Amino acid sequence: MASHNLLLLPGDGIGPEIMGEAKGILNWFGKRGIASFETETALVGGASYDACGKAISEETMKLADQADAVLFGAVGGPKWDGVPYDARPEAGLLRLRKDLGLFANLRPAICYPALADASSLKRDVVEGLDILILRELTGGVYFGEPKEIVTLENGEKRAVDTQLYTTHEIERIARVAFDLARTRRNKVSSAEKRNVMKSGVLWNQVVTKIGKEEYPDVQLEHVLADNCAMQLVRWPKQYDVIVCDNLFGDILSDVAAMLTGSLGMLPSASLGAPDPSTGQRKSLYEPVHGSAPDIAGRSLANPIAMIASVGMALRYSFGLGEAADLLDKAIANVLATGTRTKDIAEKGSNAVSTQEMGAAILKELESLAR
Ligand code: IPM
Ligand code: MG
Repeated sequence: MASHNLLLLPGDGIGPEIMGEAKGILNWFGKRGIASFETETALVGGASYDACGKAISEETMKLADQADAVLFGAVGGPKWDGVPYDARPEAGLLRLRKDLGLFANLRPAICYPALADASSLKRDVVEGLDILILRELTGGVYFGEPKEIVTLENGEKRAVDTQLYTTHEIERIARVAFDLARTRRNKVSSAEKRNVMKSGVLWNQVVTKIGKEEYPDVQLEHVLADNCAMQLVRWPKQYDVIVCDNLFGDILSDVAAMLTGSLGMLPSASLGAPDPSTGQRKSLYEPVHGSAPDIAGRSLANPIAMIASVGMALRYSFGLGEAADLLDKAIANVLATGTRTKDIAEKGSNAVSTQEMGAAILKELESLAR
């Protein structure tokens, strides 16, 4: 049995609590002899800033680079509101994405049947939903230069962020979108703002070209990003794979999260290009939700997005698709029994703790594997 080397970065807020439950799941797969994991744990975000004055240290970056995959919790919180911009907790996550070259961010939004009533949308709109937001993760306005605040001669200030995309960056994310669509319902919706932004015009042209030349069998449609946000709350089941830039993906994936009942439900995978010699991709797995400082340390957090992120690691980094299916099934079954953390519980009904939810999923895994 191959052993996989995982770097755990719990981070801040609810990060350590949900990572605790993810560890339980990894241990279970180890004990069962399904896969073996060697883990190392390090600091990121505010926790790292407190320890060394940086949102991520050089040693931790090195560990991340050497790991087969990184499991990431969450970063940030009001405690670090005043720290210098370059050392803010989010900078640790952004550096990991950029330096590891994790350009493809997969954010599946699946509405478990048992949770259709937890969504703020009507049951028939979300029931059975299974879409994937593919977000470009290392380009666009997140990283474009110049990015600065300058003082003008008249004393006024001017802030600038730069939205920037090259053909190559668009081509590679488009290919991931088409490849994923082929494994699903064969449809790609490309979202941009070609009516306002030059980067949108290029995005549209490049995606169209890749579709026509390399993936003529996959249905391709273009949608303006604002309209896409509206369509996602109107009738999300029209979509299969939505591909978009970094900023639109950030926003559209939060919208998509609420279709599934709670932001606490959405896992994500961030993948790099395959290594030319080994075919292995660098990868990082994280829940889409943030550090939720308001509920941190109180065992209220929903660990499902973190646990489902472990599932994505099994599937995309370790070739353990069956184990991932088993884990997804365990999560669905636990939800079907009515076990709920506070974020997805119906008003007035009892909610379980973070640890109880983790234990329920482990117990279900145990009975499924029997
Ligand atoms: C996300 C988050 C991050 C982002 C923050 C924490 C920097 O919102 O992963 O969606 O904006 O990308
Ligand atoms: Mg976000």
